[in-house]
Amino acid sequence: MPNLPYLKRYIEPVIPVKMKNLLLPFLCIVACQWAIAQEYRVYKAPRFREEWSKPTDYPDRIVLSFGADAATQASVTWRTDTTVHNALAEIAVADGAPTFWRYGKTLSAKTEQLDASSIEMAKVKAHYHSAVFTDLLPGTTYAYRVGDGTTWSEWIQFSTASDDKDEPFAFLYVGDAQNYILELWARLIREGYRKAPDAKFIIHAGDLVNNAHRDQEWHEWFTAGGFIHSMVPSMSTPGNHEYRAIPEWDGTNAKRRLSVQWRPQFTLPENGPQDLQEIAETVYYTDYQDVRIISLNSNVLQEEQIPWLEKVLSENNKKWTIVTYHHPLFSASEGRENTRLREAWKPLFDKYQVDLALQGHDHSYARGRVSPGENVLDGVNARDKTGTVYVVSVSGGKMYELKQNGWDDYEADRDRAAENTQLFQVIRINGDKLSFESYTATGELYDAFDLEKQADGTNQFIERKSEAIPERRFTNTIPYEDPLPDNLLSILMARYPDHALTRVNARKEAGKLVFAVRMEKDGERLELQIDEDGTIRE
Ligand SMILES: [Fe+2]
Repeated sequence: MPNLPYLKRYIEPVIPVKMKNLLLPFLCIVACQWAIAQEYRVYKAPRFREEWSKPTDYPDRIVLSFGADAATQASVTWRTDTTVHNALAEIAVADGAPTFWRYGKTLSAKTEQLDASSIEMAKVKAHYHSAVFTDLLPGTTYAYRVGDGTTWSEWIQFSTASDDKDEPFAFLYVGDAQNYILELWARLIREGYRKAPDAKFIIHAGDLVNNAHRDQEWHEWFTAGGFIHSMVPSMSTPGNHEYRAIPEWDGTNAKRRLSVQWRPQFTLPENGPQDLQEIAETVYYTDYQDVRIISLNSNVLQEEQIPWLEKVLSENNKKWTIVTYHHPLFSASEGRENTRLREAWKPLFDKYQVDLALQGHDHSYARGRVSPGENVLDGVNARDKTGTVYVVSVSGGKMYELKQNGWDDYEADRDRAAENTQLFQVIRINGDKLSFESYTATGELYDAFDLEKQADGTNQFIERKSEAIPERRFTNTIPYEDPLPDNLLSILMARYPDHALTRVNARKEAGKLVFAVRMEKDGERLELQIDEDGTIRE
C-alpha cells in the first residue's frame, strides 16, 4: 500500500480546503485500484445451465452449406425439439423490395431424429431438418427462411458462385475452435467476418468442439458464430475431437464414433467414396468457380480414401486445388508426427499439384513448403516443384508450443510461425493470383503470401510476410499459463529436483489461491496442487 499520510502531508500546502475534503476519498480509490491491480487474477470460467442448449419449437443452429457445385446448389440444416414434424424451407431471389417472397418457392425438408438422451455428454433428443436447394441461378443473391409453416426463422441471404469463373472472390479458413468456444472463438470468427464481409464460404479444419458428442459445445459453436453460420456456407472437416467412443451405447473399450451431431446437423456434399459410407459428409468436394475444395478425413480410413482422392484430383479441370483436413502432414508442434498420413497423401498432392493444404490440430501457426527450389535443381524429387503450401492454424483458445527446429525433420521449410495467438485466414482468388493472409483475433496482419499460376501449372511463390507484425511467441506475448509465484516455484523445485514445470492452473478455494501444476521428468508426469501457503497435495 502507498504511504497515504505521507502523500496527504506532501500535497496539503497547495490544496484549497474544499478540495481537501475530496482528496482523501480520491486517494482511497487510487490506492484500492492499485491494490486490485496487484491482486492475482484468476479466470472466472462461465458455467452454463444445462437447459441452455436444449431445442425448442423455434428453429435454431441454422447452418448453410454449398453442394458439389456452388453456382447452383446449397443446403440448409436446422434444429427443433421433437414436437416439430413439418419442416419447410422457402427460398426466393432476394430483392430490395420486401415482397421478394412473391416469386419464391416452398420446399419440404427432410426430418431426422437425433436421440442422444442416453449419452451423458449430450442428454438431448432433437429433430434436425435439412433442405437442399438445387437449380439455383449462378451469381445470384437468394433469401431463404426455415420453419414449420407457422413458426419461421428470419429471411437469410446468401449468394451462389458466379458462372464467370474468373470473378474475384474471398473465403475464410480457420483452425481448431475447440476450446473456450463461446468465450473466445466468438470474437475471432466475428473479426474474421468483419475483415472479410464478402467471404463466400468458411473452411473449418476440424476440432470445431472438444468433446465430440457434448451438445453444449455445439451450442457454443453455433452461438459464437451466430448468423454467420446461416449466411456464409460452411465447409467443415472433422478432427480427432469430433471422434469419441460412446460407452453408453457400445460398452467400454468401444471404437470412436463420429460426433452424433455431425451428420444430422450438417448437410454436406455426398460425393465422397461411395463404398465408404462411414465417412460420408466428411470426405467430399465442392467446386467454386475455378477452385476445387476437397475435404479429407484424417482420422479414419486414411489409406482407403486414396482411390477416391486420385479420381477427384485427376478429373479436376479447375485452375486451383485446395485440400483441407485436420492432422497436418508437417507438424507444427513437438511429438505430433503424422508420418503415415504424409506418406499416404503427399505423393498425390505432388502429382496433381495441389496448391494449398489447410490444416489444424497443433494449436499454433506454421506455414511453409517442401524446398521446391532445391528439388527442381537437383532433379531428385522434381514432383515437389509445385510447392504445395502447407498451413496449420488455430482459432480457439488452446495454445501449444512450436517445434523447436521448425520443419527441419521433414526437410521442409517452415517460413512463418506463431504461438499463443488466435488467428483466422482470408484467401482471395483473382484469376491467376491467390493471395493468402492470416490475421490475429484483433485484425492485425500476421502472415501473407501470393501464388501466381504459371502457364505450366506450377506457381510462382511471392513471400509477403514482411508486411506483417513481428513474430509472436510465448516469450513475447501475455503469459498463457497462470504464473506461479517464485516462492512456490522454489518449494516445488526443492521437493522435485530436475522436474520441468509444464502446466499451471490457478483457482481460488475459500479465498485462498490453489495452483494445479504439472511437473515432468523423463517423460513421466506428476499432477499436483500447491496452495499459496506452500502446502503440497499430490
Ligand atoms: Fe486435433
